[in-house]
Amino acid sequence: MGLTGAQIDAIKGHWFTNIKGHLQAAGDSIFIKYLITYPGDIAFFDKFSTVPIYALRSNAAYKAQTLTVISYLDKVIQGLGSDAGALMKAKVPSHEAMGITTKHFGQLLKLVGVVFQEQFGACPETVAAWGVAAGVLVAAMK
Ligand code: HEM
Repeated sequence: MGLTGAQIDAIKGHWFTNIKGHLQAAGDSIFIKYLITYPGDIAFFDKFSTVPIYALRSNAAYKAQTLTVISYLDKVIQGLGSDAGALMKAKVPSHEAMGITTKHFGQLLKLVGVVFQEQFGACPETVAAWGVAAGVLVAAMK
């Protein structure tokens, strides 16, 4: 993978300290950021496509979806340096069937570092490492 050992350590260290115990909150925040940035994409989510953004954090279907994604990302993060790319690639078929492409995955992954900086105590090195990881993971999905 195109991440240095120091970048992998920064991402894993921050995740273990600041995210692992708050998976639901982190998942909720990442998708709120995503849907504010790309509002039309809420149409992909049949189970909460009509729910206004301000109400999503208390919507059970939204919370289930974000927990599913962040729990998967938890495995991906543990796999940085080994099978992280393969784990991301494994999600391509199910998403392509819904019209969701690597473009969408890239959009989401690029926002993760931003959210971690704004709300989950990430230092500049971790944010920068996430910027690289987003590109590396998307490249591995192609
Ligand atoms: C890091 C990026 C992402 C990960 C790890 C991820 C992971 C998952 C997982 C594990 C599921 C459950 C079904 C399955 O295993 O395929 C799922 C479902 C889904 N994902 Fe993603 N996803 C990501 C990004 C996205 C993006 C960017 C979108 C849309 C813009 C999206 C839309 C959906 C939808 C619509 C479903 C089905 C929800 C339902 O059950 O109604 N995902 N995703």
